[in-house]
Amino acid sequence: MKTITINGKTHEVDVPDDMPLLWVLRDVLGMTGTKYGCGIAQCGACTVLIDNMAVRSCQTTMDMIDAQQITTIEGVGETENGRKIQTAWLEKEVVQCGYCQSGQIMSATALLNSNAKPTDSDIDEAMAGNICRCGTYVRIRDAIHTAAA
Ligand code: FES
Ligand code: FES
Repeated sequence: MKTITINGKTHEVDVPDDMPLLWVLRDVLGMTGTKYGCGIAQCGACTVLIDNMAVRSCQTTMDMIDAQQITTIEGVGETENGRKIQTAWLEKEVVQCGYCQSGQIMSATALLNSNAKPTDSDIDEAMAGNICRCGTYVRIRDAIHTAAA
């Protein structure tokens, strides 16, 4: 049995050490806002925050998690930067199909957590690992600038 903290709430989970966090979130805890895309750290759909840093939950196994604070799309709106990002996302109508967007929002929030006024190149670098098949990149960049304003 392992205790993990997600969105400020503790959970006891009985899972193998090598189970990816993404599986625990979706299949064990029923938190399906975090998406499965590639499973090999290539798309960013599964991005969550661990201690405010963006990580790929498909590649983060349970033995890598101890007392860290995990934030998912279900809770990021309770954080200051997450709320700013989600508000800007709505204002700029970023979303198309939506599949990649929880990962995009988590990476954008991590960017604002480390850089309050990111430049275009800062944004492009921070968001490079989040793939959007609908091509929402221009609106994502615009929304991040809005959130940072
Ligand atoms: S599902 Fe984790 S990076 Fe694609
Ligand atoms: S909004 Fe459709 S994949 Fe990004």
